Amino acid sequence: MSRDESTGAPAPTYTMGYGPEFQKMLDRRNAAINAAHLLPHLEPGMRLLDLGCGPGTISVGLAQAVAPGALHGIDMEESQIEVARAAATAGGHDNAIFQTGDATDLPFEDASFDVAHCHALLNHAPDTQAVLAEVRRVLKPGGLFAAREVFGDSAFFEPELEIGGLGDDRVWGTFLRLLAANGGHPQMGKELPRALVDAGFKDIRASASFEAYSSADDLAFLHDLIVGWFFSPATIKAATKLGLASREQFDGWRRSLDRWVEEPGVFAAFAWGEAIGRKP
Ligand SMILES: C[S@@+](CC[C@H](N)C(=O)[O-])C[C@H]1O[C@@H](n2cnc3c(N)ncnc32)[C@H](O)[C@@H]1O
Repeated sequence: MSRDESTGAPAPTYTMGYGPEFQKMLDRRNAAINAAHLLPHLEPGMRLLDLGCGPGTISVGLAQAVAPGALHGIDMEESQIEVARAAATAGGHDNAIFQTGDATDLPFEDASFDVAHCHALLNHAPDTQAVLAEVRRVLKPGGLFAAREVFGDSAFFEPELEIGGLGDDRVWGTFLRLLAANGGHPQMGKELPRALVDAGFKDIRASASFEAYSSADDLAFLHDLIVGWFFSPATIKAATKLGLASREQFDGWRRSLDRWVEEPGVFAAFAWGEAIGRKP
């Protein structure tokens, strides 16, 4: 984790940033796929909170499921909130309300939501229990919490070349170490049930799923995402500054990535854990 220059305290950095390449990844998401574990529990009229909503591509589907109930999306980044508001307006989701806010200090009354949801937030928020304590505070008794997060050690890239695998000579392993160095939790997807137990939730259920890339279009998207994000000057600077990789390694990995995507039968997938639990 980096340090705040004035106080010396740990200063978490949001690893993914808000550049156009990673935004394209978020644009591909929707509630039907990314909140499939939650949708069967939603009913019209519920009041739902989406923490770390990003550009709102999942949120608008959740808004549709609870209408005429309200969907409140919060994110610490104003530019994401603006995109989410535009998506809600374009889709006619007038029950979706978006505002900036910190998941560890929610701008909502106690016991004011039926459901709280987050997707790919706890991977990045350094203090998991601080987020879950706020979720518990704003949920009504019996209210439902649902989370979906990546667990990095079960992702695969086939063939591995220098792209897949967890070693410090691999692209994926280096990404996971960068996430951890920024205060994130690369294995959160499978740590969710324990985190919910520790936060005092009950009736906890967990599941797991893969996000797979095998069609030519999906592989081209993944290749371009890795080029545009992992090989961006900002990521290379962050990783080299932290001593996670050298510039020479990045140069070699870049050549391997172009080879990898041309391999016959190339196949990659990210592993996600989902968990739901109720506030007692
Ligand atoms: C990987 S994106 C996921 C966005 C969206 N949930 C999705 O899956 O498409 C993580 C989002 O969480 C937000 N975020 C990270 N830490 C946060 C915090 N403490 N409070 C509010 N938002 C936070 C980031 O700004 C970013 O938009």
